[in-house]
Amino acid sequence: MTSIGIHDLELATAHHVLDLTRLAEYNGTDPAKYHLGLGQDQMSFPAPDEDIITMGASAALPILERNGAEGIRTLLFATESGVDQSKAAGVSVHRLLGLPRHVRVTEFKQACYGGTAALQAAIGIVSRFPGERVLVISSDVARYALDSPGEPTQGAGAVALLVSADPALVEIEPATGLYTDDVDDFWRPNDSSTAVVDGALSVSAYLDALTGSWDDLQAHGGPGIAEIDRLLYHQPFTKMAKKGQQRLARHTGADLSAALTAAEQANAGDARDTGLFTGSIYNRRLGNSYTASVFAALAALLDHDDDLAGRRIGMFSYGSGSVSEFLTGTVRPGYARRDRAERVAAALNARAPLEVAEYRELHGRVFPSTQDLETPRVTSAPFRFSGLLGRARQYERR
Ligand code: COA
Repeated sequence: MTSIGIHDLELATAHHVLDLTRLAEYNGTDPAKYHLGLGQDQMSFPAPDEDIITMGASAALPILERNGAEGIRTLLFATESGVDQSKAAGVSVHRLLGLPRHVRVTEFKQACYGGTAALQAAIGIVSRFPGERVLVISSDVARYALDSPGEPTQGAGAVALLVSADPALVEIEPATGLYTDDVDDFWRPNDSSTAVVDGALSVSAYLDALTGSWDDLQAHGGPGIAEIDRLLYHQPFTKMAKKGQQRLARHTGADLSAALTAAEQANAGDARDTGLFTGSIYNRRLGNSYTASVFAALAALLDHDDDLAGRRIGMFSYGSGSVSEFLTGTVRPGYARRDRAERVAAALNARAPLEVAEYRELHGRVFPSTQDLETPRVTSAPFRFSGLLGRARQYERR
């Protein structure tokens, strides 16, 4: 059977950053609650001329520059912070990237799981047409109400994947574990710009979905826990991955390290290190990027672990509501790309810091689609949301 998987990958962040120590000082919280209790240090926050489309296009651009557009006949865009009820965000990205006309473009939605659904659809397309390549973009702005428990777990980011036969980075294995459960843990009504969340329920629903999809992976001939070298999790906040790791260790009886920080790693004893700390390096600084989160974890692992060639990675993808999947893949030799680690670090370091008052003002800013609008020029990304004309969103290359 043809090997199919992730041939290339790139991450993009939003223009601004809010340091969670500042947020803690503002609302009188012990900063340790955010840094240790939630495992989050910062959150990316979009400028007024950024959104899921500009971030998604920015993530995909370097992939096209490296690989060209030849063979790309499908662009799948996953998001749960969509900007239109009808038009797929990927259609705007298609134009911004200058892709040829003979491409199918569509949008995937199921909370944070949508990117994994798109990846599996892409693998299906490539298995039928092995000469084709599929661009999969996961892009989101995670936004909860000001002063709510979810506020410190906001964030923004996009990850683009190029899916192909004979991939250079990760071959995705056919066996997979699935789990769906109709639960009201998190959703965003059509008339709300922020998500509604039952935090405690979302944590327990995530953990139940993890064991449920793991059991299904086992029932479908997937590898046992001893045959998986690294484990990655969807990270609404990085401490959630630690909770997941602890649950999986109990469920399987394996001795897996739950060290999420460098300090915890130093005291982890003999427990098996499966990359919990390494896989959280980007998400700790991005905040929740919803559909992109599990792929940001993959990027962090690929960029910071020198011993991955031939190793098997397990990836747990969870989307509230809920749908989840436990998939596995093996890392190809020659996967390491130091230049990407440097690019991501530079992009994260270059974000423009926000004071809490500025962040709160931006958070509350809503552009009604009924008025034409020119957005201020703020972003330094390759693409910008330039405004509204006749209720239609306008985008341009900077
Ligand atoms: N120092 C260190 N840790 C501290 C602390 C301090 N001073 N104060 C609190 N903490 C810890 C708590 O013990 C807790 O850790 P635990 O979960 O390991 O027990 C953690 O910080 C969170 O605090 P808690 O008071 O339990 O939660 P909260 O009411 O602030 O809400 C969420 C946390 C995640 C439920 C909330 O941020 C949320 O709703 N997020 C959005 C939904 C989400 O991301 N769900 C995840 C599944 S999709």
